[in-house]
Amino acid sequence: MKAYRAAILRFATDCDPGQSAIYEQDGLLLVGVNAQGRQVVQAVGPYRELRTRFPDIAITHWPERIIAPGFVDLHSHYPQTNVIGSPAEGLLPWLEHYTFPEERRFASPDYSTEAAQFFIAELLRNGVTTALTFATSHPASVNALFTEAQTQRMRLITGLCLMDRHAPADVLNQAAANGGLDATEQSLLDTEALIRQWHGVDRLGYAITPRFAPTSTDAQLRGAGELAASYPEVWIQSHVAENKLEIAWARQLFPASRSYLATYGDFGLLRHRAIYAHCIHFDDDDRALMRNTGAAAAVCPTSNLFLGSGFFDYAGADRVGFDYGLASDVGGGTSFSPFHTMLAAYTVGREGQTKTGLSLSPQQLWWQHTAGAARALGLAGVVGNLQPGCEADFVVLNPQATPLLARRTALATSLDELLFSMIVLGDDRLVQQTVISQAIQAR
Ligand code: GUN
Ligand code: ZN
Repeated sequence: MKAYRAAILRFATDCDPGQSAIYEQDGLLLVGVNAQGRQVVQAVGPYRELRTRFPDIAITHWPERIIAPGFVDLHSHYPQTNVIGSPAEGLLPWLEHYTFPEERRFASPDYSTEAAQFFIAELLRNGVTTALTFATSHPASVNALFTEAQTQRMRLITGLCLMDRHAPADVLNQAAANGGLDATEQSLLDTEALIRQWHGVDRLGYAITPRFAPTSTDAQLRGAGELAASYPEVWIQSHVAENKLEIAWARQLFPASRSYLATYGDFGLLRHRAIYAHCIHFDDDDRALMRNTGAAAAVCPTSNLFLGSGFFDYAGADRVGFDYGLASDVGGGTSFSPFHTMLAAYTVGREGQTKTGLSLSPQQLWWQHTAGAARALGLAGVVGNLQPGCEADFVVLNPQATPLLARRTALATSLDELLFSMIVLGDDRLVQQTVISQAIQAR
């Protein structure tokens, strides 16, 4: 068993997320090993109480530091690290001019491996310990990312990007080299082979990954939906209702569906463990479809601001009641830092927030990037929190990391003020250390 002493932030699981933060000024986190041989939180609480229950244990003490759950990033694109900061009039020209030219490079296993190593190092440096992310349409890109995540023992979910039309040939799925299967059939066969190879290995998970409806044929979406039914524990990830021109295009291509979102439902792609990025331009029928199917939204505020896509309607989501959490959307998104994403969510949350006249609270923002995002993934109680039983993924935050952080956090007179000052002023410098749960071999 290991023990860590510092201030500790975690979340209660049985109350309003906006009021659910629990903060021990002087806390103790005890990490043990569960029946599967994985390091999990054994106990957590005030140092003075727990110390007497475990008098002999050696303690790592981090004075003036804060232990907090590792962040959960619900949506990004690992092959778009080099695309960050590419300005365009909107989503579709951005894809054409910057994204597709970069993604074609991932046909190379070496290029993919270097990018995967950089991406995962950057997540960890920023305190992200669980990520759902896109690969490209090249199987080499998927294998490279899973391989690196396994090396780093990270909880990571990815999948082969499915796109069999309406993009340059070298970023589409490829037909079998021997002239056998066509690109659509081959992409579905590759997906199933990758599920069998990687899903559930260590902490890795597979996501069936149609890029978005406009770049898939009916046959590819139908095949993806069939795989989603055959493998109910596998995730699904895609994009929806991000940009007005994208929506018009999707409506034109799939006129029989009630809405763009409904297109995914019509192909069996809305269910528990299905995560849809953006979900901006929804009506209440779309929101009810999310709620009734158990699908969840990845809210990507830095991306939506950068690409001029619009504002996620938090009030609408809460009124109808579907799950959502925060995401970087690198490289439409502008930062790997969860602090930047939370701050952008605060800005976006002002839109339409008539109830309080303000925006999201710091506890809501932090919850959406940890326990809330974990719940959206169907991983509540597994990651994103530090309650007993959770996998021991955590960050050690240094509120004195910069002169301004030190000055401002010292003035905080409440937990909300402390969290807010870190959200507004924080970045990778705030994250002193990221600790990943280890698998301990039974002797
Ligand atoms: N829609 C389809 N592909 C993408 C992508 O790569 N990024 C974003 N933001 N939206 C998309
Ligand atoms: Zn995206």
